Amino acid sequence: MNKINIAIDGLSGCGKSSTAKSVAKSLHYKFIDTGAMYRAVTLYFLQQKVDLSSAESVGKALGEISIDFAFNPESQKNETILNEQNVENEIRKMYVSENVSATSAIKAVRIAMVAQQQEMGKDKGVVMDGRDIGSVVFPDAELKVYMTASSEVRAKRRQEELTLKGEDVDLQEIIENLESRDHQDSTRKESPLIKVADAVEIDTSELRFEDQVQKVLDLAKDRIAKA
Ligand code: DC
Repeated sequence: MNKINIAIDGLSGCGKSSTAKSVAKSLHYKFIDTGAMYRAVTLYFLQQKVDLSSAESVGKALGEISIDFAFNPESQKNETILNEQNVENEIRKMYVSENVSATSAIKAVRIAMVAQQQEMGKDKGVVMDGRDIGSVVFPDAELKVYMTASSEVRAKRRQEELTLKGEDVDLQEIIENLESRDHQDSTRKESPLIKVADAVEIDTSELRFEDQVQKVLDLAKDRIAKA
């Protein structure tokens, strides 16, 4: 059977990654969380105190970064590896969330990440989630989904995730972070978050997780049959 690429873009925290992961599992496709890649770059820049306004420092730091995903049998998850260190937990923390939009707005950062993402999807069979997957990374993806949900629903889900990891964060702080990232991600000059004309929009505010996964799977099966 022919394989397709599936691009899932949308607002911060509306369940793109968990949906993409579940869809990939059902189809036996590769799942790639591009937000994790931008988070890993952000973590490295913070650790190295990279001056974001200096093209030279940014370029030098990008040359020192290697990002990979590795399956962890304990968590049964693909986890993010930055320069051979597992940073999966660290990149989800609030201080990284607060800095990731600034880092991901830098052109050199985007060029480096997009090249790696295109390489990962060149043989098809990939479900990739992010902000510019349908518009820039895979403009020819056979299926493009644009996910949204209300700020309150997204913040409550994010708070539950953080609580499970032992990070106690006020709901209002999460709402502010999500809305500020939405604003920065959709108004930036380089590859802003947009809903492309051929994307199917799914509002997950009122949907159960299984239903949102099923919706994407139904669309995917239709596109695979036509591929
Ligand atoms: O998906 P996420 O919330 O983990 O992504 C973190 C940040 O990374 C998000 O605020 C914007 C940026 N990002 C991006 O600019 N382009 C992508 N393809 C994915 C994420």
